[in-house]
Amino acid sequence: MAATIFVLNGPNLNLLGQREPEIYGAGTLADLEKRVAAKARALGLTADFRQSNREGELVDWLQEARTGADGVVLNAAGYTHTSVAIRDAVLACDKPVIEVHLSNPYAREDFRQHSFISDIARGVICGFGPLGYDLALDAIADITRS
Ligand code: DQA
Repeated sequence: MAATIFVLNGPNLNLLGQREPEIYGAGTLADLEKRVAAKARALGLTADFRQSNREGELVDWLQEARTGADGVVLNAAGYTHTSVAIRDAVLACDKPVIEVHLSNPYAREDFRQHSFISDIARGVICGFGPLGYDLALDAIADITRS
């Protein structure tokens, strides 16, 4: 059976294409999901895309991943830099979680240079725009096969 990967996007990523396009690009979230769905198909994975502006909903989905997914690609957006609750949910998830960012937070404001997720994620990919999600799926495909 194809492995199921939750692709979770956090707050304000519903505004991709409209929000700070000089940082996040001109493509919409729908464009991103279309691209990543094609990548998932090519890798024989099933991608389940979800976006929320609510911290608790992201926590709920990470908990759901304990039994409902084989891995998670997580762009927690602004919550990356603030959320102990999302960190705890990643720790509880028991599945490989790959942290992804479209931009490179380390080339931005100081407050973006701390992540509550990076040190407990299986890996971190940032700065490559939508390609980062494809790279995360490559990594998860490799991990779930081994
Ligand atoms: C982001 C980077 C975060 O610092 C920011 O708050 C976001 C998006 C990214 O994908 O580059 O909303 O996660």
